[in-house]
Amino acid sequence: MHYSKDEIQSVLVSNEAIQARLDELAAQINRDYAGKELLLVCILKGAVAVFADILRRIEIPCSIDFMAISSYGSSTKSSGVVRILKDLDHGIEGKDVLVVEDIVDSGMSMKYLLENLETRSPASIRILSLLDKPSRRRVELQPDYVGFTIPDEFVIGYGLDYGEKYRNLPDVCILSPKVYA
Ligand code: IMP
Ligand code: MG
Repeated sequence: MHYSKDEIQSVLVSNEAIQARLDELAAQINRDYAGKELLLVCILKGAVAVFADILRRIEIPCSIDFMAISSYGSSTKSSGVVRILKDLDHGIEGKDVLVVEDIVDSGMSMKYLLENLETRSPASIRILSLLDKPSRRRVELQPDYVGFTIPDEFVIGYGLDYGEKYRNLPDVCILSPKVYA
């Protein structure tokens, strides 16, 4: 894939590396949940690519549901305000839930979400995040399954956006500062 230097500074994680890592994570999940049934929850919209790719590697019985929460809008900083834009279609009481997210940055969105879902009495709840930016964390939160730990850079592609653009790029890329300068 050819990227414009005006928009993309560099490729941080190639699609090839993502696919290889998802093989490992899926193998771990298939082992961890052996004999159980899993409910996979996709956090829209950023997790849509990792969700579709991990889903097709799950070999235990599973169902899926979707939730949308507000995050950045068009800027690159967390507002700290979290809102449910679309809730799950079904209850999660007694279920083993795996929440699939694109990135944990400050951790505020995921912490809010977890607290909310825990009130619904699932049997268990874990988080898979494709990317983790621990240097930016403002709350205590550690995803159970992490694809890649990355430095403090604003990234786009493979589901992640800047102002709703770039979700279609196959690789996780560092956005050129020229775009938001
Ligand atoms: P947090 O609440 O600060 O952890 O932010 C989580 C949400 O912000 C993620 O689900 C993303 O939608 C968005 N986000 C955080 N960092 C980035 C980034 O580098 N690129 C694109 N979106 C990001
Ligand atoms: Mg997100």
